[in-house]
Amino acid sequence: MIMNAPELIARKRDGGELGPDEVQWFLEHYHQGVVGEEQMSALLMAVFFNGLSDSELGVWTDTMIASGERLALSGLSRPTVDKHSTGGVGDKISLILAPLVAACGAAVPQLSGRGLGHTGGTLDKLESIPGWRAHLSNEEVRDQLESVGAVICAAGSGLAPIDRRLYALRDVTSTVESIPLISSSIMSKKIAEGTEALVLDVKVGRGAFMKDHARALELARTMVRLGESHGVRTVAQLTDMNEPLGRAVGNAVEVRESLDVLAGAGPDDVRVLTLSLARHMLHLVGIDEDPAVRLDDGTALQVYRDMIRAQSGDPDAYLPLGVQHATVVASRAGIVESVDALSVGIAAWRLGAGRARKEDAVSAGAGVEVLIRRGDRVEVGQPLFEVYADDLDHRDLGIHSLEGALSLTDNPVIVRPLLLDVVGGAE
Ligand code: URA
Repeated sequence: MIMNAPELIARKRDGGELGPDEVQWFLEHYHQGVVGEEQMSALLMAVFFNGLSDSELGVWTDTMIASGERLALSGLSRPTVDKHSTGGVGDKISLILAPLVAACGAAVPQLSGRGLGHTGGTLDKLESIPGWRAHLSNEEVRDQLESVGAVICAAGSGLAPIDRRLYALRDVTSTVESIPLISSSIMSKKIAEGTEALVLDVKVGRGAFMKDHARALELARTMVRLGESHGVRTVAQLTDMNEPLGRAVGNAVEVRESLDVLAGAGPDDVRVLTLSLARHMLHLVGIDEDPAVRLDDGTALQVYRDMIRAQSGDPDAYLPLGVQHATVVASRAGIVESVDALSVGIAAWRLGAGRARKEDAVSAGAGVEVLIRRGDRVEVGQPLFEVYADDLDHRDLGIHSLEGALSLTDNPVIVRPLLLDVVGGAE
């Protein structure tokens, strides 16, 4: 079939719709190097402004999936269910949730990514555990799902390979923040992974991709529709990301906090969100278990230890902490109106916990501990943040980024809910 890329770009630019064959042709020929980067860039910008119809988005996603392999997870003795978070600050939920849901009887294939910019990546956090391996073969993933029930590992390069090129192109053409493009990128990888069910944690607020509720809701609805139309039972939960999640933001510091929650303690917000997502996951695969019981009786912690060991990590190893430490204290008294997630995320990144380019290395021991929360009363000189870095330059950059992180007021503050909305399932 002969098609003309400029003609298809012009139609999309002018608000028209592409037919299924046309969407497929464009993406496949981009993948094969026939459609050029400049033509794909132009189409991405047209999609950024004019969106994709449900039919265009379905074919766009199918073509991305068909560009690579699919993991064969059928035939396992447990039902499969995964979770995806759109990314936040202090979001260590996967580390607790995957073993917890496995402890309740499901298999959790968490194919994860690394952090970029101010949001951390699950693999970077786990790599602070000595010996732990992020890269597993498809066979190893399957075996570990059968034996342990939970795997957190790097998504292999074989899943939806067009996405890697498209994502890099979106990054340099300012077309990342498009709902259909985000939805197809996330869902193509999750559908190719072969999970039966999926719970999406869609973050809303200053520290998230989606700053406002209406757009987050639209993203959630679009991804739920895509999942359901591809046979993946999907629910999305919208959760607040104006403040960091928990106290710890970084790599090893977040592993340590996850261990606290797995031991039945830890910050309340991390526990509440983990249990809520676990309940949705279990409900989707028909498992009638109370995850709080498995968290409190130590079963989830045991599965976590098995999961780390299965990937060559030592769950008892010392977790590094940056040797250059400082405490940031309050310069005035007041009530905490907000602890800005974006500033704290940037601080952790500058301390060395995050990367600016995908090839950068991250520091295992760098991070921030947030000692106060919205609504707390603070006095002059009270410790607000503990910062950790490997050297003084990074430490001072991190401290500088925290300067505007806290707003104080003299008036009472209403604490915002963490769990905002649910899309799909028993909505
Ligand atoms: N995560 C993805 O995998 N893709 C996006 O487009 C955004 C977040």
